[in-house]
Amino acid sequence: MNLPTEVRYRSYADWTDEEKAEIRAHVAASPWRANYHIEPKTGLLNDPNGFSYFNGKFQLFYQNWPFGAAHGLKQWVHTESQDLVHFKETGITLQPDHENDSHGAYSGSAYPIDDKLFIFYTGNVRNQNWVRDPRQIGAWMDKQGHIEKFDDILIKQPADATEHFRDPQIFNYKGQYYAIVGAQSLDKKGFIKLYKALNNDVHNWQEVGNLDFGGTGSEYMIECPNLVFVDDQPVLLYSPQGLDKTELAYDNIYPNTYKICQTFDTNKSALLGASKIFNLDYGFEAYATQGFNMPDGKAYCVSWIGLPDIDYPTDRYDYQGAMSLVKELSIKDGKLYQYPVSAITSLRTTQEVFGDKDQTDNCYELDLTFAPDQKTELLLFADQKGQGLKLTVDNNKGKVILDRSQAGVQYATEFGTIRECQLDQTQEARIFVDKSIVEIFINKGEKVFTSRVFPQADQSGLKILSGQVSGTYYHLKG
Ligand code: FRU
Repeated sequence: MNLPTEVRYRSYADWTDEEKAEIRAHVAASPWRANYHIEPKTGLLNDPNGFSYFNGKFQLFYQNWPFGAAHGLKQWVHTESQDLVHFKETGITLQPDHENDSHGAYSGSAYPIDDKLFIFYTGNVRNQNWVRDPRQIGAWMDKQGHIEKFDDILIKQPADATEHFRDPQIFNYKGQYYAIVGAQSLDKKGFIKLYKALNNDVHNWQEVGNLDFGGTGSEYMIECPNLVFVDDQPVLLYSPQGLDKTELAYDNIYPNTYKICQTFDTNKSALLGASKIFNLDYGFEAYATQGFNMPDGKAYCVSWIGLPDIDYPTDRYDYQGAMSLVKELSIKDGKLYQYPVSAITSLRTTQEVFGDKDQTDNCYELDLTFAPDQKTELLLFADQKGQGLKLTVDNNKGKVILDRSQAGVQYATEFGTIRECQLDQTQEARIFVDKSIVEIFINKGEKVFTSRVFPQADQSGLKILSGQVSGTYYHLKG
């Protein structure tokens, strides 16, 4: 939603209790609130931030402007979880209340060091002429959730980057702390800078160089770069804006992409043996995916189910955006798989054999098996007129197609109403539906479609239109 700058950057203290109560009432009127996904209490949610494991719990923050469905003065909102399925908001926030983050506590990461969580993020600072000075800054969070910001700027805007320089990700490689930061070059090409913490002191970052990951620079900015290690292979997750479509076909306003690499050469600042660029997700919205490694090597990631510069049907209810399910990463035959953690089954309540249903509460999981060499068409969010979200698994043509054109309130239609991917055979799919969210994991996460759908009141059925499919319907609790 477009709101005037002075509204979006109004200080938090200036919002009155009446105004905040009105915003909460608008949110409460939405027919589309999710049951088991993280959504903002109010306002806009965007990137996942600070995803980590600390103090015996998973930590996950999200970017938020709490006063409406717009990108305003951002804060981080903290949630925690024991099982990566049930997340609880703790009330802890990282607010834009310091001279180094005066115009927003922008995206970043976190890493446990000694008995504290180190938070590494971008302070968005603007001067009187609205000229931006991006500052990579830090804070400690202790076990009680008390946050203490550093006063020093850890990394300043380098001479070879524009004001678009943000989203530091800290990671540990062979006992040494490194960080990568998304950047735009002076000739407006996206790139990534690599730094290392001298003596592992997080106050002391030294530039290693521009990370060579076999990119072409066809994008004008790289947001939210993340390096995770999957079975010791470096995997770069990133959000390139303006990427040339001859390099990678995509339909969303900005893609979320990845490359699997062979080795990380820290001296040369290079990811060697980089694969070509792939879409991380084939749905209508997934962006700014953030991943991290557990000490045992497991790699998890989570995505923003939303996109920059898009208006959503929930905007009129003063909120926007949701967090995806947490996905565990693995590599099989040189391909990245993303699959919900096994604890996700704890959401199941009742189960029945999958088949047509006139009505559901749009809160369920489907565990499906498809016949080979057949075309199968399913309708989710189906109404009596036979309209809904159409999923076509075409094992003849080797394609999966998601058609949103007949499902609910339409938006962002200038980017098309169909998403598809090539996939020789779809053997199985797990589909998670949560009121206005759908996440489809094909062949145990070989391909993923993440999307919003804002159904009309009567769109809650399930229908098999053609083909052969069998499986289980699980009702899920909130
Ligand atoms: C990505 C992004 C980041 C930035 C944040 C601000 O969606 O633009 O690059 O840090 O959002 O909210």
